[in-house]
Amino acid sequence: MDENAKRQALLMIPYGLYVVGVKAADGSISAFTANWLSQASFKPPLVMLAVKTDSSSFPVIRDCGKFSVSILEEGQKAVAGTFFKKPEYVDGKLAGYTVEFHSTGAPVLSDAPAFVECEVRDSVNRGDHAVFVAEVVNAGRKRDAKILNLADTGWKYGG
Ligand SMILES: Cc1cc2nc3c(=O)[nH]c(=O)nc-3n(C[C@H](O)[C@H](O)[C@H](O)COP(=O)(O)O)c2cc1C
Repeated sequence: MDENAKRQALLMIPYGLYVVGVKAADGSISAFTANWLSQASFKPPLVMLAVKTDSSSFPVIRDCGKFSVSILEEGQKAVAGTFFKKPEYVDGKLAGYTVEFHSTGAPVLSDAPAFVECEVRDSVNRGDHAVFVAEVVNAGRKRDAKILNLADTGWKYGG
């Protein structure tokens, strides 16, 4: 295989940017920025999310089987950048951002234009990221928005 072509071709796949929220069995909450997310079925409504297996959130999702997805909009690049590293939860704020809680207990960013909450139904553990196939069990939409595209940020995660 032409390694350069593989890298360049994979980098042409478009993505949005999302903050995935998790709640561990001990009640602690966290979140991380992800781009490898897609809807994967209408009925039932499924999404697939690839999660880095050496990240702090991977065992939490694997063990609790739930996560939230806060959808980011144009102008929220700084929010995405904040959650590349594990956030602190202080005074009801995650890395300084107000969060709210719905049916799964996973934190949702209050400023996100929309969110979904998901329960894991299946997983594929094959590479350096595991793919969770999860059913959307709750959703909220606060306003219409143009989503934050990975391509518009100048960041790369792929190839
Ligand atoms: C542009 C970009 C996109 C990312 N997308 C994903 C992703 O789709 N899935 C994932 O598990 N981590 C992704 N990450 C990494 C996470 O944001 C985070 O760094 C990782 O979960 C490590 O967290 P930890 O410090 O809690 O272990 C991405 C990072 C960047 C810079």
